[in-house]
Amino acid sequence: MTTRIMLFTGKGGVGKTSVAAATAAMMASRGLKTLIMSTDPAHSLADAVGARIGPVTKKIGENFYAQEVSVLEAISSHWDELKGYLTGLFQSQGLDPVSAEEIATLPGFDEASHLLYLNEYVEAGEYDVIVLDSAPTGEALKLLSFPEAMSWYMEKFFPISRKTAKIIRPMAKPFFNLPLPDDSVFRSMETLYNNLSKVRGLLLDPEMTSIRLICNPDRMSVNETKRAYTYLMLYEYPVDGVIVNKIYRENTGPFFEKWRKSQDEIIKEIEDSFGDVKIFKSYLTEEEPTGLERLIDFGRRIYGDDDPYDIFYSGRPVEYIRENGESIVKIKLPFADKENLNLFNKGGELVIEMDNWRRVFYLPQTFSDKSPESAEFINQHLLIKMS
Ligand SMILES: Nc1ncnc2c1ncn2[C@@H]1O[C@H](COP(=O)(O)OP(=O)(O)OP(=O)(O)O)[C@@H](O)[C@H]1O
Ligand SMILES: [Mg+2]
Repeated sequence: MTTRIMLFTGKGGVGKTSVAAATAAMMASRGLKTLIMSTDPAHSLADAVGARIGPVTKKIGENFYAQEVSVLEAISSHWDELKGYLTGLFQSQGLDPVSAEEIATLPGFDEASHLLYLNEYVEAGEYDVIVLDSAPTGEALKLLSFPEAMSWYMEKFFPISRKTAKIIRPMAKPFFNLPLPDDSVFRSMETLYNNLSKVRGLLLDPEMTSIRLICNPDRMSVNETKRAYTYLMLYEYPVDGVIVNKIYRENTGPFFEKWRKSQDEIIKEIEDSFGDVKIFKSYLTEEEPTGLERLIDFGRRIYGDDDPYDIFYSGRPVEYIRENGESIVKIKLPFADKENLNLFNKGGELVIEMDNWRRVFYLPQTFSDKSPESAEFINQHLLIKMS
């Protein structure tokens, strides 16, 4: 049985941890070996599940395991690989070797350590389900864009071949006239590159991974969700559901009447605009959904007759189409702001920029010699004609 990965993200405070924990508790309760992993440095998973948990995976119930990832802990368990890589890299730049604490503060290190754990668990086939309770949207997007960005840099700076993922030790002049790092550094970089490519493969596979967005029925939260959805589509991540959490019930009394009305309108808008992604409604509960029993009950209310293990949408966000002699890149971008979108070909790569995000597309071979000629939006999709 292959591992099923579910990642929950959304704006701060909307209920990510609660919904992720409820989903995980449901899976564990029906016999699937489940790990819930918090990648949010402001961990609150322990409060949700009502158990003490830490950086090392801990059994918190029948078939149920939890871990609050710590960067320092990750360095010691992936130490050899990363230390070798970074120490070599720093030394090659004429810097002193760095300590674990210093490494932990490097940009991108959080992301790398979380992803390496994920890779390790999936490779070992240890769990049937891995649920990721991730940080609020911006951080989660950084995590999800990391493997590609990192691979891109590595490919630019080292003569690495994507096909074989093997770094050919450069014979030419070293960069910046500094001595070349030795072979062990190249080997550990190869491993890092391969692992990041693998983890990207796992997270992009709609048969394996589901990304679920949590939002509340209020304007700010919905706007953020639409933006997050757009960026996730751009990076080809398989979003299969949106969970609208903390909806007020009728019995919340007259004081909340205006709120209920506005929530109704927003829910309708979500249902109309997210197309084929499944929308779940989750009501405000009378008590905080904490502790395993309440979480399972909360989960049942969210998913109703649906099985959270299922894949609710498996279409791919990006398609490469060749028809009638035309080559088209088709990207699902229902909420993209056309004014904010920039696309161009740079050195044979298709680059799309949107707000602060930039995606460099690895085009399939038949497209790689082509440049974007024109682009238009049709039915919530961006169609880029390449020639
Ligand atoms: N449907 C609900 N009904 C009642 N309380 C809820 C519901 N969903 C979440 N809560 C409560 O709302 C608070 C915030 O939830 P939670 O911690 O799950 O959000 P979060 O999105 O993970 O927050 P953060 O961005 O801080 O990680 C918690 O006290 C939680 O118990
Ligand atoms: Mg949380």
